[in-house]
Amino acid sequence: MTKQNVNTKLRRWRGVYFFIFVAGSIALLLSGASMSKFFSLKSFLDVESFYTHLTPSEDTNRNNQNEVLATVQIVITKIQKELEKLREIHQNPSSSSSQSVLKQGAFLADILGLLESLHSEEQNGGFVVHPLMKEKKRSDEPANYFLREEIRKYVRIRPNRLGKQNFMGANATFTSIGHACFSMKEDLEEYMDYDIGEICNDDWKLAQKLMVHGCDPLPRRRCFSRAPKLYNKPFPIKESMWKLPDDRNVRWSQYRCKNFTCLASNNNARKGFFKCADCFNLTDHEMPRWIRLEGDSISNQTSEADFFIDDVLGIKLGEIRIGLDFSVGTGTFAARMKEFNVTIVSATINLGAPFSEMIALRGLVPLYLTINQRLPFFDNTLDLIHTTRFLDGWIDFVLLDFILYDWDRVLRPGGLLWIDSFFCLKEDLYFYLEAFKMLRYKKHKWIVVPKIDKDDKEVFFSAVLEKPSRPFR
Ligand SMILES: *[C@@H]1O[C@H](CO)[C@@H](O)[C@H](O)[C@H]1NC(C)=O
Ligand SMILES: *[C@@H]1O[C@H](CO)[C@@H](O)[C@H](O)[C@H]1NC(C)=O
Ligand SMILES: *[C@@H]1O[C@H](CO)[C@@H](O)[C@H](O)[C@H]1NC(C)=O
Ligand SMILES: *[C@@H]1O[C@H](CO)[C@@H](O)[C@H](O)[C@H]1NC(C)=O
Ligand SMILES: *[C@@H]1O[C@H](CO)[C@@H](O)[C@H](O)[C@H]1NC(C)=O
Repeated sequence: MTKQNVNTKLRRWRGVYFFIFVAGSIALLLSGASMSKFFSLKSFLDVESFYTHLTPSEDTNRNNQNEVLATVQIVITKIQKELEKLREIHQNPSSSSSQSVLKQGAFLADILGLLESLHSEEQNGGFVVHPLMKEKKRSDEPANYFLREEIRKYVRIRPNRLGKQNFMGANATFTSIGHACFSMKEDLEEYMDYDIGEICNDDWKLAQKLMVHGCDPLPRRRCFSRAPKLYNKPFPIKESMWKLPDDRNVRWSQYRCKNFTCLASNNNARKGFFKCADCFNLTDHEMPRWIRLEGDSISNQTSEADFFIDDVLGIKLGEIRIGLDFSVGTGTFAARMKEFNVTIVSATINLGAPFSEMIALRGLVPLYLTINQRLPFFDNTLDLIHTTRFLDGWIDFVLLDFILYDWDRVLRPGGLLWIDSFFCLKEDLYFYLEAFKMLRYKKHKWIVVPKIDKDDKEVFFSAVLEKPSRPFR
């Protein structure tokens, strides 16, 4: 056996070894590719009945599938061509192997790139089928509807990272936005137009407009909300309740008034809101509400409230501890109730004035909530719901029905519904009273008084009602 002979044999062996190595890796790749493609194809095919009903149009779906198939076809052709070349190399072992190794490297990189792009497409472009989706049920994938990437990212279903159910029993996180967001697409995209990690636009008013018109909940954002330039710490709790807060603790942009003195003044025209025009006048207007003042007769307080807090709490002595005030106001009801050791959260939006900030600066809890949403409380939990100047004669009867049933839901058996100075047109009164009677609550207080300041067309209605226990259902 000559040296040359050994060398050629070795080279041949090397060639064969090289061929086996390359062929083996290609086989591996192929199987990997076909496996992963099979996987996604299989999942495509398996869930096709889901999938077709999920996507906005079946055409898009077919397009996606065609794209995948086309890419797989490209991969297969490339691999076949490369195999041909490899066979040639094998038949001609004298050709430089280092060159072919380079070529193999480029080839592998090419294949990998294709597979990776497919993979990431699958992850980002595709979406997770909602696990609770019933077959044959059509639902638009919200991410496809919007152009702005931040909305698309936000509404996409987020699978749990550990691949199993989380402590809440769901294997993904499902964020939600109000369905009216879709009809206000342009406003919403403006709202979601920001740089991640930067300061948000000064657009709380746009946000509130979206919410009031049914884009509620709004998507979350990944920017820092604007704050007042110089936030001074709030007054201590004893002081803060009955004192106008520091003007610097509020952002006054988008309001007609630029300070609390302006809001508390009697010049209504300049304030930019009409409901509870005197709500910021704490000393003269808010102080006397709902409580018996020293030496006062009931007669000169009736225009403010029909019932006093101590009378209402007396109905259920010591039983009323937590509740909700669904009103337009600055939290005075909650402030007074606090003196009776009752915790009240005040639902409000910023209708022409910084109501939420005012309530918070007084040391009370503002719940920023429109009337569009189901209350964020569980069934049978609250002792009291109080409402004034919010639900009035403007409200649609069917909507009122939905709201009252929702309030009934969160009130506990024996809880009180305090309707405070509901006003409406005289001719509507009958229908509104029927709506309240529908609840079949026990009437503790129930009065109708004519409204004095209008030309005798409107009436006030006030009541304190108790939710019955419904033991037989
Ligand atoms: C999530 O759970 C549903 C059943 O609730 C199941 O059908 C689905 O495959 C799960 N998805 C993942 C990604 O585990
Ligand atoms: C409050 O704002 C009004 C105009 O909105 C202005 O005339 C007044 O001087 C301001 N008062 C204080 C104390 O800043
Ligand atoms: C509150 O109202 C009273 C009576 O209407 C008025 O005299 C007083 O100036 C008002 N307070 C403020 C801060 O404007
Ligand atoms: C209530 O009426 C009494 C007498 O009728 C009067 O002296 C008192 O000033 C009135 N209180 C208020 C707050 O108007
Ligand atoms: C509220 O609670 C405090 C402290 O427990 C107590 O001193 C006070 O009398 C209570 N107030 C009422 C109105 O029950």
